[in-house]
Amino acid sequence: MRSKIVAGNWKMNKNLNETKALLEELSGKLPKTEAEVIVAPTFVNLADTARTLESSEIKVAAQNMHFAKSGAYTGEISADMLLNINVDTVIIGHSERRAYFGETDDLLAKKVKAALENNMRVIFCFGEELEERKAGNHFKVVESQLKNGLFDLPADAWQHIVLAYEPVWAIGTGETASPEQAQEMHAFIRKTITEAYNTSIADEVSILYGGSVKPSNANEIFSKPDVDGGLIGGAALKADDFVAIIEAI
Ligand code: 13P
Repeated sequence: MRSKIVAGNWKMNKNLNETKALLEELSGKLPKTEAEVIVAPTFVNLADTARTLESSEIKVAAQNMHFAKSGAYTGEISADMLLNINVDTVIIGHSERRAYFGETDDLLAKKVKAALENNMRVIFCFGEELEERKAGNHFKVVESQLKNGLFDLPADAWQHIVLAYEPVWAIGTGETASPEQAQEMHAFIRKTITEAYNTSIADEVSILYGGSVKPSNANEIFSKPDVDGGLIGGAALKADDFVAIIEAI
């Protein structure tokens, strides 16, 4: 059975004081759930968060990492640095990294490989832009992002992969993909993985939906059979909203 996951991507929000306050509120209000709950604060607050949540049910992820072991890469963070502060999950390929920081499929494939070589778990993000959906190219775009980012991996690597389908037009816009659109794409993703690998990998991989998930729509989105949870941006910054989304799953 694939696992249910609700992950909060805090992006470039919350200073250290705000991070501590949100973690405290979240820990106090965390509902009983079978789903895995993850938060991904900014790098500068990651070590503190990992320490705070050491004996908590809530897990911690990084928002990015570099593929190299170490070296002259000013401003970058390695897998070893993350593991050393007990962070073993990393988000790779977020559309904001692709769009604003020029991260290409090739670079992302290198990052995924480096993370897996270090026994980390990857939350791999992908999704089409509005123009691509309007032109009817969304399936093609998603297929090529998956192929270029992940399909060189050996079959056994897939147990360390979580997918996050995040249509770019739904991120931070208030506009969500309809539950039907999410289901349609998630089913397509499983079919694509079945063709590239096999049914058991396609059935076992958790596929999260991301893009303007909020308490008012989480229930309906999560009720779709191929949606295994969410990667939450804005609504993860308020404990009550994030908790309501966790309850929805
Ligand atoms: P929003 O929930 O703010 O639309 O962001 C989604 C996202 O990008 C999560 O990674």
